[in-house]
Formats: sequence, C-alpha cells, structure tokens
Amino acid sequence: MRQQIAAANWKMNCTLDEANNLLQQLSKNNDPLSGDQEVVIAVPFPFLLLAKDAFKSKTGYKIAAQNCSDHEAGAFTGEVSVPMIKSCGATHVIIGHSERREYFHEESPVLAQKVSMALLHGLTPIFCCGEALDIREQHNQNEYVERQIEDGLFHLDAAGLSKVVIAYEPIWAIGTGKTATSEQAQEMHAHIRGVIARKFESSVASRISILYGGSVKASNAAEIFSKPDVDGGLVGGASLKAEEFRQIIGSLK
Ligand code: PGA
Repeated sequence: MRQQIAAANWKMNCTLDEANNLLQQLSKNNDPLSGDQEVVIAVPFPFLLLAKDAFKSKTGYKIAAQNCSDHEAGAFTGEVSVPMIKSCGATHVIIGHSERREYFHEESPVLAQKVSMALLHGLTPIFCCGEALDIREQHNQNEYVERQIEDGLFHLDAAGLSKVVIAYEPIWAIGTGKTATSEQAQEMHAHIRGVIARKFESSVASRISILYGGSVKASNAAEIFSKPDVDGGLVGGASLKAEEFRQIIGSLK
C-alpha cells in the first residue's frame, strides 16, 4: 500500500512554551502506527530542534518545515535553506502552500526550484495544489490543478517525482470549516493521479501519496481518508489540539 500520512501544519502558531507543551502531548500518543503509516509535524523554523528532540524515539513520526529557500546558501537575509532544515532533523518540507502562493507571491518557477532543492538534499517535498472558489464555481478546477502539478513537478524525472508527496488543498476549504466532500476529494485525487500517469507511468502515479487538506477534523477524517485515492491529510487548525490530532492519526487507512 502507498504511505498513509497524517501531516500537521502548525502554520504561524505557538510560542516556544506552547510548542513544547503541544509536542510533549503529541509524543505521548502511544497508539501504534502500521509500517505504511506515518505522522509528519510541520512546525515553524524555531521549533524544528525541539520537535526533533520530542520525537527522537517515536517510530513513524517525522518533522517538516513549512517552507524553504530556493537557494542553497548565501546573501539572502531572512531566508532558511534546505541544508539548514535538514541539519535540524526535518525529513519533509511543505512547498507551495496556497498561503505562500497568495500572500508571498510564490509562483510556479520558484516552487519548482524549491522542489528540486529539497530533493537534491534528500528532503521530501509536500507539494500543495488547489483551486480557489471562483475556479471551482466555473468548473475549471481540474485544468487549474493539472497546471499547478505540471508547472511545479513535471521538470522532475520519474525517480524524483516518486519521492514527492502531493497535498490537494482547495483554497475554499482551508480554515473555513467548509470541507470538500469525500467525493470531491476522491475525484480530484484520481484526476491528479491520472495526470501523473499520462506523463510518467501508472506505476509512478500509483506510488505517490496524495493528501487532502482543508478543514480536516477528527469528525470527518475517517470518511475522507477512506477514499481509495486519498492517502491521509494535511491538517491545519485541528493539528493544534493534541487529542483531536491523535484521532485524525487514528483515522488513517
Ligand atoms: P485547515 O488548514 O486544516 O486549518 O483548513 C489546512 C492547511 O492549510 O494546510
């Protein structure tokens, strides 16, 4: 089976004490994970080392950054490089979250470069895609997301692409409490897999984990994750509550 992933995206939340507290609570979760399940916690940069320490003896728990520079090193004040992130113990990095695309004007060429940089240094990119409400209302979501996947990922070869995790996050469902139905998620995930199969081989497409994100909660996770092309979730708000996130982890296939 493909890797099933419960990924937490803390976004810009928590002070040091709050982060420490939440990590301690999360690390007390002793529910067993199966070999093809994993938990990825994407914390703000200042808490990477703290997270590494909290999960050091927890099998299946990985750490992620929420962004990275497209440059390797040098005079880029305020930026954080992939080698820095890796040296702090992270294995994953979120790339192209809609908040980065919208508020920080990150467009496909720079996102494609970030994906390459992450892979070059052995970090797994969690590449986000997803349409805004007006695009869905015009029934253009399939073409729109297809374009994001092509522009952000299709410079890779099959071996590179196989290492990427994709997160489909319809913008109208992020932080709004308005979740896509499990059918809408399944439809888009199958579409994304089809787009990859057309360009590469279906064996490549069938190996890639595709997560759903957008108002995933303990109460809807099991239904969404039960769909055949949904391999877990990228969870924002609900990942800041340890017990709720524990239940989301427990909803993985
Ligand atoms: P949400 O955020 O779960 O709060 O909707 C998801 C995300 O933006 O990754």
